[in-house]
Amino acid sequence: MGYSFANVKTALPGPKAKALLEKRQTYVPKGVSNGIPTFIDHASGALLTDVDGNTFIDFAGAIGTINVGHCNPDVVAALHDQIDKYIHPGFNVMMYDSYIELAERLSKLAPGDHDKQAIFFNSGAEAVENAVKIARKYTKRQGVVVFSRGYHGRTLMTMTMTSKVRPYKFEFGPFAPEVYKAPYPYEYRRPEGMSQEAYDDYVLNEFKTFLVGDVAPETIAAVVMEPVQGEGGFIVPSKKFVQGVAQLCKEHGIVFVADEIQTGFCRTGKYFAIEHFDVVPDLITVSKSMAAGVPISGVIGRKEIMNVANPGELGGTYSGCPLGCRSGLAVLETIEKHGLNERGAAIGQKVMERFHQFKEKFDVVGDVRGLGAMCAIEFVKDRTTKEPNKEIVSAIIQEANSRGLILLSAGLFSNVIRVLMPLVITDEQLEEGLTILEESIVAQTASLQPK
Ligand SMILES: Cc1ncc(COP(=O)(O)O)c(C=O)c1O
Repeated sequence: MGYSFANVKTALPGPKAKALLEKRQTYVPKGVSNGIPTFIDHASGALLTDVDGNTFIDFAGAIGTINVGHCNPDVVAALHDQIDKYIHPGFNVMMYDSYIELAERLSKLAPGDHDKQAIFFNSGAEAVENAVKIARKYTKRQGVVVFSRGYHGRTLMTMTMTSKVRPYKFEFGPFAPEVYKAPYPYEYRRPEGMSQEAYDDYVLNEFKTFLVGDVAPETIAAVVMEPVQGEGGFIVPSKKFVQGVAQLCKEHGIVFVADEIQTGFCRTGKYFAIEHFDVVPDLITVSKSMAAGVPISGVIGRKEIMNVANPGELGGTYSGCPLGCRSGLAVLETIEKHGLNERGAAIGQKVMERFHQFKEKFDVVGDVRGLGAMCAIEFVKDRTTKEPNKEIVSAIIQEANSRGLILLSAGLFSNVIRVLMPLVITDEQLEEGLTILEESIVAQTASLQPK
């Protein structure tokens, strides 16, 4: 179609991908879903090339994992160096310095000037599980509070903490006890006629009522909040709400956990999204972009809380593996070297400019929103009723795929398109990706009449 970077030469899947897809269907259960029906051959920066030689601009970044880019040269060099030395002694068998160094660097980077520590695991869900364990051990309480539309993972505890019944929870119960779900603001869907300010007060009051009606604060170990909801649809809460909840946690001795697994490492233009809200969390969970695709996660937080669990009570065979630690250190170097926080903010600005234009042009666009480069478009069938339009989102994503752009949906009703492109994307690649997105909306929207 004459693009400079995106180049899809075959139907999707192409012939080689088709053969692999048939095997995949035979040998891999359908329970693990796949967005685009093809297989990768290689990747670099913000571009992915599949086995049939089709090249795609990546606006998904492995669901927010590749902020520093695919095969980032610093990360690749660190991994090669590590593999030649040792792969895995097991931190609880023989320690290695990269674990300590990463813990030190992340402890210093996390908000707050109090003493901090960090501990590492494998996946985001495992980090959240362990933040809960740590908070319970410290407070000697059991209750865990999360928020409606939140996402924290697929293990028993984190699935319990997660919203969106299908596909995450349906027929997978019973769930873990002592998990309570509180309301979270959703500005776009605030009651008709209510001002932003009144709505902020309303939701915070609802949270206070929740502490009376649903669970007693003195039984709550942790409140776990995404500073911007990821899977829930890139919903940005008000500063007032986040600060209000953090303050209530402080008053009641509750550990306030910021789940930064999707929001962290420059996505919002800061190391941690919670910094936008001027709140210092007690614990932070991290994963995804912390190591550019190597499975590692962590909990960072107040030493007095982190250090309460006794030897052997936390950890796991692969927890904080050397490849993850080395990659994590290389990621931090890259962020500094390339000013990726500033780049995240600049990308966000460009994306939001285009998204606002889309809102002007296309009636199906109900809302555009974001924080830094964590930006999304919510599609509706009708701007007055705001009825979610899942069908158009899935059609636009398929159309974009066929033109060489990888996109992700989000939201309880799967009616949101979110972007999580690598922050090393060039201006030209970003422009081309946004143009493909616009062309895909045009192609898939019958009623699209520029106003
Ligand atoms: C906010 C948040 N928490 C936790 C998780 C779970 O991470 P993982 O898939 O690595 O278990 C995710 C994954 O998308 C997430 O976005």
